[in-house]
Amino acid sequence: MTTAILGLGNMGKGLAQRLAGKTDLILGVRDSAAAADFAKTVKADVASYQDAVAKADIVVLALPYDLALDAARTLPLAGKVVVDMTNPLKPDYSGMSLGFTTSAAEEIAKLATGAKVVKAFNTVFAALFAKPVADTKKVAVFIAGDDETAVNAVADLTEQAGFLPERCGGLDAARLIEPVGMLNIRLGFGLGKGVNVAPVWIAV
Ligand SMILES: NC(=O)c1ccc[n+]([C@@H]2O[C@H](COP(=O)([O-])OP(=O)(O)OC[C@H]3O[C@@H](n4cnc5c(N)ncnc54)[C@H](OP(=O)(O)O)[C@@H]3O)[C@@H](O)[C@H]2O)c1
Repeated sequence: MTTAILGLGNMGKGLAQRLAGKTDLILGVRDSAAAADFAKTVKADVASYQDAVAKADIVVLALPYDLALDAARTLPLAGKVVVDMTNPLKPDYSGMSLGFTTSAAEEIAKLATGAKVVKAFNTVFAALFAKPVADTKKVAVFIAGDDETAVNAVADLTEQAGFLPERCGGLDAARLIEPVGMLNIRLGFGLGKGVNVAPVWIAV
């Protein structure tokens, strides 16, 4: 399996660092020269978004929501497993820009014709990628998708990245997972718990 990560911000870099050496990795970037040194550290190739998508089985959209919509609209994603990690936030972070009757993942899926969209990683703060794997292997990555093979591939990717896959059913479950991401942001930033927190689901 080859995984492309589009966007080398906090999440894209963090995920790439966790996946380094564990899967074939391509970094989809706007500026190849700027990404070259980082790519060496994670043993990844660098390509344009278009070329990275063409070579990948799994495409991670590590982009702000509006740019993820653009990517879904314009890139050749048919047949690919597409990981949506976005939290569709209002510009002032005070809440979500959509929800309850749809989700960011479903809006991306509407535009990415033929892609197998899977929600994952939106409740994981980027800071957790820098922790030792031993600290995160019980941290849930809530996963939702309509294609079982795609969900399995993202569950495997989650384990390779050092987290615990928590399967939540079809893509409509993103309507529930995205508000959990917002709750995490409220607890982390609004209520001062910081970015080393994460929601988990436990059996008691
Ligand atoms: N940060 C978190 O803790 C966190 C947690 C959970 C979910 N998320 C979600 O994950 C996604 C990525 O978050 P992030 O924190 O990694 O964001 P970020 O640090 O702002 O990175 C976003 C990346 O998007 C790329 N990009 C492409 N076109 C751009 C443009 N016109 N303007 C700005 N950036 C552009 C850039 O990568 P290149 O420079 O390589 O092109 C940029 O580094 C978001 O949807 C966010 O809601 C974030």
